Amino acid sequence: MVGRGRLQSFNLQADKGAPSGVGKGGPRAEGGGLGPGEGFFSPEEAGREFRRRGGAVSWEGLFGHAPVLLKECLEALAPRPDGLYVDATLGGGGYSRSILKRLGPSGRLLALDLDPEPLSWAGEWGGSDTRLILRRSNFSRLSAILEDLSSGPADGVVADLGPSSRQFLQARRGFSFRADGPLDMRLDPDSPVTARDLVNGLEREALERIIRRGGDHRAARLARLICRKRGEKPIETTGELSTLALKAAGPKGRAERIHPATRLFLSLRMAVNGELSSLGDFLEGARGNLKTGGRLLVVSFHSEEDKLVKDFFKNPHGGFRALWKKGLEPSEDEVRANPRARSARLRGGEAI
Ligand SMILES: C[S@@+](CC[C@H](N)C(=O)[O-])C[C@H]1O[C@@H](n2cnc3c(N)ncnc32)[C@H](O)[C@@H]1O
Repeated sequence: MVGRGRLQSFNLQADKGAPSGVGKGGPRAEGGGLGPGEGFFSPEEAGREFRRRGGAVSWEGLFGHAPVLLKECLEALAPRPDGLYVDATLGGGGYSRSILKRLGPSGRLLALDLDPEPLSWAGEWGGSDTRLILRRSNFSRLSAILEDLSSGPADGVVADLGPSSRQFLQARRGFSFRADGPLDMRLDPDSPVTARDLVNGLEREALERIIRRGGDHRAARLARLICRKRGEKPIETTGELSTLALKAAGPKGRAERIHPATRLFLSLRMAVNGELSSLGDFLEGARGNLKTGGRLLVVSFHSEEDKLVKDFFKNPHGGFRALWKKGLEPSEDEVRANPRARSARLRGGEAI
């Protein structure tokens, strides 16, 4: 079951709008004629804007994502100038740029993302930095990638899970029930299965299982409603699905603090992207590819992920010493500046 409190704050923020921490010059306010949530700089536009303003604007702001628990993560990672580090979830590059700042000329940073857009952005902010190695890949393939690079074990690995605020707020990506768009939800836009496929193609029982796994107690009713609706015509948009969630909730559910579509959208996203299975493979990959004393740090945004990470570090035969018993949560100041951080938890371990 997904823990109520943490999931609640994750989704409420995720669907609220740009985090206030992204800074000025972030997602364009007016949208330039694009649909809601689509008014973002492209990497090329951002590069031009950055140069035009002589660097007086942040890449975080231009990209539209404020890094979460960055200070805590960097302190725990304590990069050595000549080390090899992995940022398994490049996103807007907030973590990567901070790690690069601490590396000397012989240090290296391997940065991964399964969405090609963050890699194009990194081409703009870090294109000429030969210490930065970019790979488009699922982090579940960490072992294979490091093997390809013949790099030897890493000194530290970080992962900041889930979609970035930028991905979340782009209606065309279909992550948010507040921005009407195609029912997509793929982190990797080339992966073959979308949320539309699951919603319209799965047997009712399978759909119910996925929804239940996300902690929605209305799973049976929702799955029945979805099947009835798709019998009339395929369900194509986030708006249509959200309307069904509201209907399944009834007046009582609609009065709850958490939006009735919250858990449904989260569970579908996790299923579309196989998020828990990728995370499990990633943790194993990191285990086999860290130097003794090297650190693995993971920021998660909901309880199911966090439990996987916690159990991984807790295993007495797992090859790690947990850095903190309960993990670290963001400070009140950080949450005030960036409400998306509210449900984040950082866990870490040192390879022994
Ligand atoms: C929360 S954002 C990371 C933000 C980044 N730390 C920053 O400060 O800008 C997560 C990023 O990881 C990517 N991602 C999520 N799951 C992934 C996976 N299994 N493999 C590789 N990248 C993944 C997403 O596409 C997204 O760009």
